[in-house]
Amino acid sequence: MNSIFNRNIGVIGMGFVGLPMAVAIASAKKNYNVIGFEKNNNYGIKVCKNINNKIFPIQSEDKILKKKFINSIKNKKFYATTDLNQIEKCSTVLVSIGFDFHSKDSSKNIIELFKKLYSILKNKTLLVVETTLPPGFSEKIILPIINKNEKKINYVYSFERIMPGENYYNSIVNNTRVYSTLNTDSKKKFLHFFSKIINIKKFPMSEINSITTCELTKVLENSYRAMNIAFIDEWVKFSTNNKININGAISEIKKRSTHSNIMRPGIGVGGYCLTKDPYFMNYSANNLFKSTNRFPFIDLSLKVNRNMPKTSVNFLKTIFKNIKKPRLLLLGISYKQNVKDLRSSPTLILKKILLKLNYKIDTHDYFFDKKNLNNKLKINSYNGIIFCVPHNKYKSLPLSFFKKKYIYVDLSMTFGIKKIENLRKKKINIIQLGSY
Ligand SMILES: NC(=O)c1ccc[n+]([C@@H]2O[C@H](COP(=O)([O-])OP(=O)(O)OC[C@H]3O[C@@H](n4cnc5c(N)ncnc54)[C@H](O)[C@@H]3O)[C@@H](O)[C@H]2O)c1
Repeated sequence: MNSIFNRNIGVIGMGFVGLPMAVAIASAKKNYNVIGFEKNNNYGIKVCKNINNKIFPIQSEDKILKKKFINSIKNKKFYATTDLNQIEKCSTVLVSIGFDFHSKDSSKNIIELFKKLYSILKNKTLLVVETTLPPGFSEKIILPIINKNEKKINYVYSFERIMPGENYYNSIVNNTRVYSTLNTDSKKKFLHFFSKIINIKKFPMSEINSITTCELTKVLENSYRAMNIAFIDEWVKFSTNNKININGAISEIKKRSTHSNIMRPGIGVGGYCLTKDPYFMNYSANNLFKSTNRFPFIDLSLKVNRNMPKTSVNFLKTIFKNIKKPRLLLLGISYKQNVKDLRSSPTLILKKILLKLNYKIDTHDYFFDKKNLNNKLKINSYNGIIFCVPHNKYKSLPLSFFKKKYIYVDLSMTFGIKKIENLRKKKINIIQLGSY
């Protein structure tokens, strides 16, 4: 095989995972050429156009990622297309598309994609699937599609652990990675390729001896986190209703190394992964394994997490109970700090509930609003300024930003105990969910 073919890498899905991964590959010393693939629809066409015009289609705080993105397009190491047939030029293909059960089309989309890949890819192409999948999906659905007849695709499952935000790029190249595959040829190719992209000396790869276990690792990882978040919510409700300082208790518990990941009070869980991955277990048990095992902790956790913004609503209701139609400014609408991503945003759920209760609601988010926050405050009058997402720019607001005329409510641990104490010394009325 010629060397150009060996250097051509395809990444399918130019979203929050695939795009930065494509940039990391194009930026590797190995001199790879990356082709990013998107769906052939209006959205995909727009994404490709932006990428090819050096417009980063995802808002990100990470300057390193943006710089490397522009350089890789400028240096012709990376371009994007909706023409999947071009994948035949690639010796290695990564799949980073989304998959969920919110729509029937999602299963159809992924199955259709693997059928097309099988028809286009050359024998022994390295195919690395990063998409989070229900355990058993590779072995029971994907492999029968791509490993039939004579043509054999070198299949590796290796889920992604990227963290969009300030250290976005770093979270790809300096992060632990788990993988599983079927044969030594795939393993050799995979390790050779990834050793050029990520810092495997410092973050060695972990091999899992079953693809299904590897898929389950990711789902368990995210289910554990979702459950951990849900667990604290009932304690927050009790503490809020009875004026107990749950944050003080949590600070003490966190000092024990075995308990340091206990969660803090918060507005809720959003984003793409924690709201959908845990559902995969019941799907797998039911459909892929025909098992009678069920996951009631997961069901309960997801239900609690979906309703979590209501804890904040009740908190706000007690604070503004004497005002007829409270007018609030919600700060931060993305699903988490320092990302421009609205998927399942708890602030937007909070807003919807408050509007139904006749509150007047305005929002501001540095990632979506062109309007300066101070101007917004000058033009409109509010009863309360509510910190919903701890973006860095909210965290670092100077003491001079805070005025005595407003009530400030911190729903998301935007401020530490010291800043809250300093503000209170200046007679600023600030209240934090979980602190008394
Ligand atoms: N976002 C995260 O932080 C994160 C972290 C770890 C793992 N994951 C997992 O990675 C996967 C991708 O997540 P994401 O956040 O990048 O999703 P995303 O929605 O941002 O990106 C997926 C992209 O794939 C494209 N796509 C869908 N079907 C396609 C097809 N048939 N051909 C070409 N392109 C197609 C979509 O148009 C979209 O742009 C998911 O399984 C997710 O659970 C995400």
